Amino acid sequence: MNGTKSDYSFNESIILQHVGRTKIANPDSVNLSFGFPAPDLLPIEALNHAASAALIRDNVDALHYTGGKGPELVKRWMLQRLRKFGIEADEDCYLAVYGANQGIELAARVLLNPGETVWVEASTYFNALHMFRYAGAEIEGFPVDHDGLDVDRVESALKQAVQSGGALPKFIYVMPNFQNPTGASMPLERRRRLAELAKYYNIFILEDDAYGELRFEGAHLPSVYSFAPERVIYLGTFSKTLGPGLRLGSVIAPNEVIRRMRCLTLDSPPSPVTQEILGWLLYNYDYDAQIERLNSRYRARRDAMTDAVRSEFGDAAAYTRPEGGFFLWLAFPRETDAGQLHRLAEDRGVSVVPGNPFYAAGGNSPFIRLCFSYCGESEIKRGVKLLGQAYFEHLNKL
Ligand SMILES: Cc1ncc(COP(=O)(O)O)c(C=O)c1O
Repeated sequence: MNGTKSDYSFNESIILQHVGRTKIANPDSVNLSFGFPAPDLLPIEALNHAASAALIRDNVDALHYTGGKGPELVKRWMLQRLRKFGIEADEDCYLAVYGANQGIELAARVLLNPGETVWVEASTYFNALHMFRYAGAEIEGFPVDHDGLDVDRVESALKQAVQSGGALPKFIYVMPNFQNPTGASMPLERRRRLAELAKYYNIFILEDDAYGELRFEGAHLPSVYSFAPERVIYLGTFSKTLGPGLRLGSVIAPNEVIRRMRCLTLDSPPSPVTQEILGWLLYNYDYDAQIERLNSRYRARRDAMTDAVRSEFGDAAAYTRPEGGFFLWLAFPRETDAGQLHRLAEDRGVSVVPGNPFYAAGGNSPFIRLCFSYCGESEIKRGVKLLGQAYFEHLNKL
């Protein structure tokens, strides 16, 4: 488990330094770092058409504070779509937000007081760690294995907390589908058990499903929400399927939580114009075909990446083969200095993210996160080769 005393500024500077180096120092760098969708798969033409159609349809209403028909249409579409993940929610359990990130932030603001505890997966999405820290939370990490969050460990920690009079977490933040950064997914039984624990111990689960639609193989599994709607705050987003610049996502949660979130946003919804455009697009565009296009392209890129990793690293790097999402998480031998490896890789022209920002406790974590969504297969191959060279250079420096 990780404690909370992390060197936060170190994590932050690694991320900023990384972005700066990638963008400015080496424009030819192969970008296997941040989780961007494939640029040529973003539906620019359809959005362009939807924008003019929606603005004509709703005329000046679209430019008012609350917009025209768009927000209502997006809400209806979303509530229908989420049935695919076992989510049957009423309208008053829905809130449109500026992406899943705003959902995380609102959950932290609504549920947490400074000094209260949040449990997370170790490793986890670094922006969520940032927001929990900002809310003054104590953060504890629990291991992730090939099947996602280790729910046995969570269960025994809950039991122990009750027996010893220790603090129960206010909520557990979890990504059951294609976790960022490990790519692991929770099987059905773990989801069900986590939901049962939330009910039994009266705690919330913050279920971040940013990548849920991006499943390349196997059947979609029910969300944790579907087993305990009264105890789960579920987050969805259009960032990974239509484009992160839309800044549109959704929260599904018990009405009391939604009401408090709405108060905090002062009834200032995400851009009505964006919702106007999506309200048109979602009913006039084949969203399922878009998901199929993404999944078939990303499947090929995932395979190119795992093949390249096998041939460059052999047994030196272990990973869980993700069934979807954007990421491959490489685990190196314990003595690997991922910070140094990341710098050597950047010098050779491939950008990757080292493991430590994904842990509440920071420190050296011998992991590298690679993103396979953004670059084409040949770039992926070239990038992994450069990373392999950097790794063997790093070994020589040990
Ligand atoms: C797990 C996870 N949650 C949330 C987000 C952010 O989503 P949004 O763009 O909808 O704010 C990301 C983006 O990288 C993510 O990986």
